[in-house]
Amino acid sequence: MRMRGKFLTFEGVDGAGKTTQCDAVAQALAARGVAFVRTREPGGTPLGEELRGLLLHRAMEPITEALLMFAARREHIAAVIEPALARGQWVLCDRFTDASYAYQGGGRGIDTTRLDTLAQWVQGALQPDLTVLADVAPELAQARRARVREADRFEAEALEFFLRVRAAYRARAQAEPQRFIVIDGARSPDAVTAEILQRLEPWLAAQR
Ligand SMILES: Nc1ncnc2c1ncn2[C@@H]1O[C@H](COP(=O)(O)OP(=O)(O)OP(=O)(O)O)[C@@H](O)[C@H]1O
Ligand SMILES: [Mg+2]
Repeated sequence: MRMRGKFLTFEGVDGAGKTTQCDAVAQALAARGVAFVRTREPGGTPLGEELRGLLLHRAMEPITEALLMFAARREHIAAVIEPALARGQWVLCDRFTDASYAYQGGGRGIDTTRLDTLAQWVQGALQPDLTVLADVAPELAQARRARVREADRFEAEALEFFLRVRAAYRARAQAEPQRFIVIDGARSPDAVTAEILQRLEPWLAAQR
């Protein structure tokens, strides 16, 4: 029987360095011949990408936002994530359910118990094997992303919003220390990547 793939997610506030680290881990896996799928949320499927466009650019109620995030996630799990893991591929996902707890929960103030209900419904027992939380001060993240592009609906939020998002992420990581690796995202990208790869080493060794 083929070994199930590992499910890795990358989290952090906008501009924390998620995509940078996801790229670096993808390169390392490719170099070692590990088959993987690289994907993102919201999005990852044709319908999910359409929902992403709405979520990032159209005004809506917080509850609508939470429901659309989980709707896109359901498609993503069923069409991309589960099939890949079952084939033995690793899945590298730029944001997943922790982002809903951080943004819709911490940021928008939606009750955690409601998010628990949606998560249970949409993903059942599926959890990431490892979640990389790039933790940086929102001020630094904001400065980084301002260099790159114009703000979307989330990025246009005030600093206080991102302070709540960061606090919610950290609380998630504290509650599940075995699943999370919290990275000081203010360090050099290479140092951060090295720390992640060290953590993956036992799984990579088992693949050989
Ligand atoms: N450790 C780091 N030190 C300095 N700059 C970094 C670091 N990591 C990423 N950057 C730079 O910061 C910017 C944002 O990084 P990146 O796109 O990886 O963040 P992100 O978390 O994916 O952001 P978003 O949520 O907006 O997609 C990029 O210009 C990237 O090159
Ligand atoms: Mg990114």
